Amino acid sequence: MKTLMELRYFMAQTDNSFLTDKIFIRVNHLPDKKEIYVLDCFAGKGKIWKNVVSLVDKKIKRLPIEFKDGVGFHLPGNNMAWMGTIDLTKFDVIDLDAYGVPYEQLKAVFESGYSGAVFVTFIQSLFGVMPRGLMESVGVSGKMLEKCPTLFYKSGWEYFLDWLYQNGVRQIVHRSHERKHYLYFNCAGLCTEDCNTHSEGRAVNRA
Ligand SMILES: C[S@@+](CC[C@H](N)C(=O)[O-])C[C@H]1O[C@@H](n2cnc3c(N)ncnc32)[C@H](O)[C@@H]1O
Repeated sequence: MKTLMELRYFMAQTDNSFLTDKIFIRVNHLPDKKEIYVLDCFAGKGKIWKNVVSLVDKKIKRLPIEFKDGVGFHLPGNNMAWMGTIDLTKFDVIDLDAYGVPYEQLKAVFESGYSGAVFVTFIQSLFGVMPRGLMESVGVSGKMLEKCPTLFYKSGWEYFLDWLYQNGVRQIVHRSHERKHYLYFNCAGLCTEDCNTHSEGRAVNRA
């Protein structure tokens, strides 16, 4: 197992501070269980979880999904196809380390009845484009977006938090760098009373 000091030194050398953020938000918010089953929907080469495994005294079983080949064992193809067929409720952690905004994947999580931990990477691109469905859900119509895209996209993170709130998420923990946000929340505490239509608000904690 690597020590925290060794890992920090390694990260400083490779100048990959955001990877460090991703690793530590997971290490600090793993479920309180000895054995953890992770659905890693944007698996890549599995760097994050290799580091998490080296830092914690838990047995971590991971099911990776990845578009690309050459990354070892994984379920190939689009994670959306798998998320629609796998029973998500059997996992303790769902990992959405996306390059953009994993809106469809989060929708699948909310619709599945899943009640475990979720780790998300939310990155707004250079032009800040946000998923249309998400924006419409929080009251920004396609017409409004077409008229003034930059006005709405510059608050993309806030709209995302509003959308999470609509879906029952009352508390998140995040580490943020400009348009890159790394966050954790737990679906066990999702608000179920009439959240979808009438709720307004936001609940945020910085890690
Ligand atoms: C930020 S990287 C993930 C890095 C990874 N978490 C790690 O620890 O090494 C995002 C990965 O998701 C993959 N990807 C993007 N969209 C996907 C999708 N819809 N289904 C499956 N894989 C996807 C990309 O090919 C890329 O390897």
